[in-house]
Amino acid sequence: MKKFFAIVISLVFCLCACAASAETLTVGLNAEFAPFEYVDDNGEIAGFDVDLINAMAEKMGMEVEIEDMYFDGLLGALSSDMVDCLITGMTITEERQEQVDFTEPYFSATQAVVVLKGNDSIKTLEDLQGKKAAVQDGTTGHFMAADDLGCDVSDTVYKFSSDAALDVVNGRADCMIIDDAVAQNFLKLYDELTIVEGLDMPVEEYGIAVNKGQDELLASLNDALAAVIEDGTYDELIAKYFQ
Ligand code: ARG
Repeated sequence: MKKFFAIVISLVFCLCACAASAETLTVGLNAEFAPFEYVDDNGEIAGFDVDLINAMAEKMGMEVEIEDMYFDGLLGALSSDMVDCLITGMTITEERQEQVDFTEPYFSATQAVVVLKGNDSIKTLEDLQGKKAAVQDGTTGHFMAADDLGCDVSDTVYKFSSDAALDVVNGRADCMIIDDAVAQNFLKLYDELTIVEGLDMPVEEYGIAVNKGQDELLASLNDALAAVIEDGTYDELIAKYFQ
C-alpha cells in the first residue's frame, strides 16, 4: 500500500512538473539590440520584442522565460532545444529558413550605414568597397558588409553592437552596418553619429524562429501574433518604442 501511494504521489508530482514546464515558453534573444531587446537601467531585459512575446504568450496561456545570449549562438541554442523560439530582431533569410521555420513577419527593417557626422566619403553602396565596417557577429549587416558590399571586417566583428558603434565614434572604423531602428537608437546615444541617407538597401523582415517540425508551436505563435495585432496591443508597442 505504501508503495502504491509512493507511486501515486510521484506520478502526481511528475504530472504537475510536466504541466508546469509545458506552460513555459523559453525564448532566446540577444539583449544588445535596443529598442528590440536590451538590458534596462534596473538590469531587466526589456524592449519591443520582449513586450511582444509576453503579450503573445499571454494569449497562448504561457509564461515567458528569457535566455539572453550572443546573437551568433541563438540558432544553435534553438536547434539543441535550449530554447523553444527566438525573438531577437531576426531577419527571415533563405539561409536561416533551411535550418528553422519563421512565423509571419512582425517588423520590417533595412540595414543602415552609420558614420561620423561630416564623413561624406560614402554616398553610394559602391563607396563601401574596402571601407572598414563595424558589425555585430552573425547578423545580416555582418554578412552584407563582408559578402555583398566588399567592406573590410577583418577586425571589426563584435559580439556587442555597442562595441561596433564605439568603433565609429572613436574613428577606428569608417562605418557601422546595422538595422535601421537600432542605428537610430545609437544616434540618440552618440551625438557625433549620423546615418548615410539615400542608400538603396533591401527590405528585411523579422520573424520569430522555431525548430522545424514544431508546427503546433508555430501555428499558435502565428495565432497569437494575429491576436495582438487585432486587439491593438501591437500598435501600442510600436508607439511605445518607436515614436
Ligand atoms: N536583423 C539582423 C539579423 O537578423 C540583426 C539582428 C540582431 N539581433 C540582436 N538581438 N542582436 O541578422
